[in-house]
Order: sequence, then structure tokens, then C-alpha cells
Amino acid sequence: MPAPAQIQHLDLKAENQSIQGEIDAAIRRVTDSGQFVLGPEVDAFEREFADYCGVGHAVGCASGSDALLLALMALDLRPGDQVVCPSYTFFATASAITRLGGIPVFADIDPRTLNLDPEQARKAAARCSQLRALLPVDLFGRMVDTEAFLGLGDELGVPLIFDAAQSVGARDTQGRRAGSLGDFSCFSLYPTKNLGALGDAGIVTTSNPDHAARLRTLRVHGASEPYLHDEVGINSRLDALQAAVLRAKLRHLDDWNDSRRRLAARYDAAFAAAGAQDLSLATPTRDATDPVHHQYAIRVPERLRDPLQQALAGDGIATRVFYPVGLHQQRCFASLTRAGDVLPETERAVRENLCLPIHPMLREDDIDRVVERTITFLRSAARS
Ligand SMILES: Cc1ncc(COP(=O)(O)O)c(C=O)c1O
Repeated sequence: MPAPAQIQHLDLKAENQSIQGEIDAAIRRVTDSGQFVLGPEVDAFEREFADYCGVGHAVGCASGSDALLLALMALDLRPGDQVVCPSYTFFATASAITRLGGIPVFADIDPRTLNLDPEQARKAAARCSQLRALLPVDLFGRMVDTEAFLGLGDELGVPLIFDAAQSVGARDTQGRRAGSLGDFSCFSLYPTKNLGALGDAGIVTTSNPDHAARLRTLRVHGASEPYLHDEVGINSRLDALQAAVLRAKLRHLDDWNDSRRRLAARYDAAFAAAGAQDLSLATPTRDATDPVHHQYAIRVPERLRDPLQQALAGDGIATRVFYPVGLHQQRCFASLTRAGDVLPETERAVRENLCLPIHPMLREDDIDRVVERTITFLRSAARS
């Protein structure tokens, strides 16, 4: 019998090939222009991205990690300043804080959404003596409880930075797009993101023109005019080639996000039809927000998670664990974590998470095969 076709976790080649002509034209436009760093393509992408998010300003930069760093620099984060953030996130959320001498104060997640729990954030903020900002993350493409965080930021009198690296195109319960709220939203445009460049890229959005001007200075070594430096910034510019390709892809983003929604709904329905709740398998996809399913995450009992991942790999199905370790458990942050700091929901999530294949080019029968293999494995494990 022939081996079953591989189901990739994501398929960037297929995504790019689906608009190959537009990508080729974008690249040609830039090579013909001779302008490769910042310039008209970047200006145009920034305008189009800001319009897409429904916000006044967007400032491109070299990566999502730099987007976070630039936002914190624009807030004048100082050594010893504390920023409340989740531990269940990608490393850059917290490393941007520590690179400026700040201290990430990790708070636990809501197990239903896997996003930073506003009540836990409030408790963490209450422990701070030098609180400077709140930095929630829209994990796996779902916006955080924006109302709660906007209220908390106001109440505590501190700015709000959204790490929107994974949520481009998502809306909150009020229908507001990721990128349109708070003081800053920071996006990664890394190739694997829902809107991905052909290399590293990032962008920061803000409704405040002064913040936008500061970001534009900070990303070019703090120069307000060429060779005149008001302050020390960093070199974090967006390449024209990436901007041109991103402009082409932005036109398809809503369709691609709709495909992800359709596929996530199919996963939900297939797991529900299989009575997967009995197998402690619950998707965190159900709430009143409009997520863009950057990942489709399931929870698997701890003892079965790695065996399930291996069994699926044996069937040609690629899955990923996001994230295998909480940031408060990382060795490099050990000196920042208070003895006895425990984040039970984060620690459970890192042991139980498994992210199944999802990308706009995935077929519905691929989803059915993933669900069938997952259920078969878990049923037989439950019997043994
Ligand atoms: C939640 C989160 N924050 C920040 C980043 C950093 O983005 P980049 O890889 O573009 O530097 C990522 C990307 O991996 C991310 O997923």
C-alpha cells in the first residue's frame, strides 16, 4: 500500500505559489526601483497596513522582536521597570523587556483561551513597586480580553502594549481589529505568521502620532535627520522587498484567514462529533472573539501528548508543541523569577499542548484524517 500523503503543519510553498505572479511582480518592481531599504514601498505598506488595522499609524521594522523592543524604547522603559506579561508565549515577549534592563513580571493564563488572564495580571501588577506597562499577547490568533486590559491599564495608569505577533486580522468581541487598540501593537511578519514576509519583518501600530514619530526615529539609530542623532536608537528597518511582497499578500489575508476559520470549525465539529471531550481533549477556540487561528491547539493528557505526537508523525502528520517550557521556567530568566512563583495553568498548558496542522492551503479531508488518527490513538490509549 502506498504511504499516506504527508500533512504538513504549514505549507509556505503552496501559499506563495498561489500568488506567484503577484510576488514576482512585487520583487521586479523593487529590483527595478533600486531602492532596497525603507522608501516608497515601505511607506505604501505602512499606510495599507494601518488602514487594514483601522489605526492611524504603522511603522515597519526588521522583526516582531524588534517591534516589541521599539515600542518599549518609545515608552522610555528604564532599568528596573516592571512589565506584566504572560509566561506562556514566545521568548521575544519577555526578552524585549530584559534587553532594556526591565523586569518581566509573569502572570498566569486563562485555561479557556490560553491568553493572559486579566485577573492574574491585576494580581501580578499589585505586587509591583515599579510597574511601567502591561504586555498581553494574542496567543494563537485570538485577541485577549481587550476590554478588561484597556480598563486595567486605565485603572493602573500604565500604557498597554499588545503583542499581536500571531493575531493579524483578528477582531475582539466589539469587532475591533488587532492593532487598533492600546498604546502600541507589535506584529511579527515572520514567514510562518498569517501575514508572512519572505524573511524577517515586523511592524508596530499606534494611534498616537508622537509615538509613531518616535518609532520612526528609533528604528534608524535615533536619527531625526540623516546623521543627526537626538538619541541612541537601533538599526531596525524594513526592507523594500519584504514590504512589496507583504503588500501583495495583505490583499489575500482576509481570504486566507477565512480559510483558517473554516478549517478550525471543521476541526471543532469533527472532535465534537467524536465525543472528544471524554478524552480530555478540548480546543480553546470557543469564545466571542473572532480569532484567525494562527494555530489550532488541543490539550492532551500529559502522559499521552508526546506519544500522540510521535504516532501522528508516524502517520505523516506534522504537529508542533507551542511552547514546551514557560518563560518563567527558562534558565536565562531564573534570577528574575521569585522563589515559589508558580503559574499552574501555564505549567499545565506546556505539558498538554499540541498544535495540529492548520494553514490556508490545507484540505478538509486532511483535517478529517488528522482527527481520525488523533481519536483512534487516544481511544486505544484510554483502553490500555
Ligand atoms: C507571540 C510572539 N511574540 C513575538 C514574536 C517575535 O517575532 P519575530 O520572530 O518576527 O521576531 C513572535 C514570533 O515568533 C511571537 O509569536
